[in-house]
Amino acid sequence: MANVTFSSPVMAKDVTVYAVAGDRGTILALAKEHKIPIPFDCQDGECGSCLVEVIHLSPMTKYAVALTEKEKESLRQLGKITPEEIRNAEVNDMPPRHRLACQCFVRNEDIMVTFEGDRTLP
Ligand code: FES
Repeated sequence: MANVTFSSPVMAKDVTVYAVAGDRGTILALAKEHKIPIPFDCQDGECGSCLVEVIHLSPMTKYAVALTEKEKESLRQLGKITPEEIRNAEVNDMPPRHRLACQCFVRNEDIMVTFEGDRTLP
């Protein structure tokens, strides 16, 4: 069971969706399914368009952090992850603050996902 709350200045209000076991995909897939306007482009961890901040609402639940090399590199290029965060993710399973929505899988925990949205929109 996972409640995922999306929040963004481009949305009129926060939206919480429930991700059921079995069909949990990436944060981006969940967002698209529920018409949450997280920007995206490559959907392959390379362009950085889908940058989000993930807040873990039950910090006691610890999951192995699955950061791919690709995601690490993209976050590094965006200046959104520090060497210390990478080390903490790898050694201590402490999730970094920023993730790429197309690379980050929803797990059995409640999270808050915030994103800036497309600033080019009126
Ligand atoms: Fe390009 Fe996620 S959509 S990195």
